[in-house]
Amino acid sequence: MSLHRVPLGEDLPTGGLRRLVVAGRAVCVVRTDDGRLFAIDDQCSHEEESLSEGQLLGCEIECPWHFGRFDVTTGKAAALPAMEPIRTYPVSADGDDLLVDVPEE
Ligand code: FES
Repeated sequence: MSLHRVPLGEDLPTGGLRRLVVAGRAVCVVRTDDGRLFAIDDQCSHEEESLSEGQLLGCEIECPWHFGRFDVTTGKAAALPAMEPIRTYPVSADGDDLLVDVPEE
């Protein structure tokens, strides 16, 4: 476990996405419409586009480049051309901060 405290800055609304750098890794933090937080790799597994530039559709994030999709709860690819999963990280809110468990590499 490698827990990192990251200031969230302004609030992340439901349906919102935010790119953060945690332990040198670009992470996309998501707040789904039901208020749950998820953290995934920001880089699409298809051709390396930033997923935080995409769109959240329920529990799926749609890549802005070729519209591949990933399930933010599992990291699994949910729509072509995305096929490989992306990493997910445990995340929770602590006041105005996030606690994100990103392993050191
Ligand atoms: S770069 Fe994301 S689907 Fe192609």
